[in-house]
Amino acid sequence: MNLEEKIENLRQQLEADLAIINTTADIGTLRVKYLGKKGLITDLTKDMATLSDEEKKKVGALANAFKGEVAGRIQVLEEMFKAKELEEKLKKDKIDPTLPGRTFKIGSKHPLTKVREEVESLFVSMGYDVVSGPEVEEDHYNFELLNLPKEHPARDAQDSFYITEELLLRSQTSPVQARTMLKNEKKEPIRIICPGKVYRRDADDATHSHQFGQIEGLVVGENISLADLKGTLDVFAKRLFGEERTIRFRPSYFPFTEPSYEVDISCFKCGGAGCNICKNTGWIEILGSGMVHPNVLNACGYDAKKYTGFAFGIGIERVAMLKYGISDIRDLYTNDVRFLETYDRVEGDK
Ligand code: DAH
Repeated sequence: MNLEEKIENLRQQLEADLAIINTTADIGTLRVKYLGKKGLITDLTKDMATLSDEEKKKVGALANAFKGEVAGRIQVLEEMFKAKELEEKLKKDKIDPTLPGRTFKIGSKHPLTKVREEVESLFVSMGYDVVSGPEVEEDHYNFELLNLPKEHPARDAQDSFYITEELLLRSQTSPVQARTMLKNEKKEPIRIICPGKVYRRDADDATHSHQFGQIEGLVVGENISLADLKGTLDVFAKRLFGEERTIRFRPSYFPFTEPSYEVDISCFKCGGAGCNICKNTGWIEILGSGMVHPNVLNACGYDAKKYTGFAFGIGIERVAMLKYGISDIRDLYTNDVRFLETYDRVEGDK
């Protein structure tokens, strides 16, 4: 039997084989039978070695052409079967579009996180760096460098958790001011905020907590003025509490600033007419601030004759409670998810 005849035989055999195929798995078997390494088509060329070059070429070409033909037939059939099987599967897996969807729970941001992130993004947009400092702090940074020597009476205002005589849980984020200035060896201008936890020996009640969050701000450079501080805090008040807010500065006292101010915003509830939130004054106290005291600048290596700066300290809980109308600070720490998630919905800005 010559090669053409062998091929013709195989072609007929293939037709017969194709006719009895039922599944895509059968097709796999068929493919091996014809096209596999030890398959029928390889068989066709197994005596090639004995042939002349001329004949080898001819046999090779014929065998290859046939191989292509077989592969083509098998593929067409395979696609047909796949389509058929998919159709059957779709028919079986009926979807009921009237079934209610499966809901799954999406987490919500804690109000304190929201406030912190909002303040951070505002100040970052104004070119500030966000820095951090240690919560276990040295007396030196927490007080001494901030113009609060050991016997200073203002230390009493921040009754602190001491670990040793020199180590305490920081009572404010202000030590990060000192750390930042000292670390800056070239005494370049500084623009930072520092969000973080602080600790005080306060008895917990609706408005006090032994642990709370602050955001410290510090700007140091040449010609930094009170006008810069006012402008900055005005933007802050408007961004967090609405475009119509105005601020006012009330003279105050902090050892690390001179002059020092407490900053009030116009009441966002009554607009100044007087209500329970602003205790009928039209103003709400929001933060402490001032021009960095020359003693602090000098102690931290910035020549106070050349440099000036402003600083501020924002209470995160206070801002969150005002913004979201939360009356008990403890609600922010009890972590009742049902309570917390309502505040994420208030603004709907997940
Ligand atoms: N550290 C102050 C406090 O905890 C808040 C504060 C007031 C920070 C004035 C400042 C500032 O940077 O300038 O009560």
